[in-house]
Amino acid sequence: MNYAIANFKMNKTSDEVDEYICELRQNLKNSVKTVICPSFVSLERAVKASFGSLIEIGAQNLFFEEKGAFTGEISIGMLESVGVKYAIIGHSERRHYFKESDDLLFKKVKAAANRLKVIYCFGETEEERDAGKSLEVTLNQLNLVKSFFENIILAYEPVWAIGTGKTANAEGSFALIKELESKLGALPDCLYGGSVNHKNAKSFIDAGFKGVLVGSASLDVKEFSKIIENMS
Ligand code: G3H
Repeated sequence: MNYAIANFKMNKTSDEVDEYICELRQNLKNSVKTVICPSFVSLERAVKASFGSLIEIGAQNLFFEEKGAFTGEISIGMLESVGVKYAIIGHSERRHYFKESDDLLFKKVKAAANRLKVIYCFGETEEERDAGKSLEVTLNQLNLVKSFFENIILAYEPVWAIGTGKTANAEGSFALIKELESKLGALPDCLYGGSVNHKNAKSFIDAGFKGVLVGSASLDVKEFSKIIENMS
């Protein structure tokens, strides 16, 4: 089944998330796995608002330790305790703005892989693409988490396509996934992310991706509903 995953990033209050889920659950297709990832403070209400619907809730981040003196961090146990089922790890905004290293990402994926459905993001920057390094960079990013492939899903997000309106070519992007597969063996389900909207979502499914990870266009419930509609 294909995935439509909404990453709200640092947008929407709890009330807004609640209203959004109430509207979205009216017009869902049961042929698309729909996951909403709001901020930490909205997770518990989001789980309640989605109860009995086809929507599942994911976190945008987590910490690998279970408890202790880690001011400001959220553990996997805390997420599980409020009914969260998914977690995004390795988003380029975490890698770049918050300097999350390979070592940290490995620890996060290792801790979470058996407990939550991890959405592991990877993708090259514009400079890396222009230098012809897309394969090398993405191969390294995937090699890091290869031992967890059975328990995670992937999201290919070319950094230059995130929030820019510059969508990557669907076939070209999937050709990269195929190249990665030829080096690494079978890959887990792989989604595409980067300026997805209701007009282009289907092209990524047609190219071979197992779904989409949507930022900006997911903030409008009508637009996200259309994305889901067009994918099914
Ligand atoms: O997690 C979502 C991605 O960063 C894509 O964001 O749809 O705003 O380009 P975007």
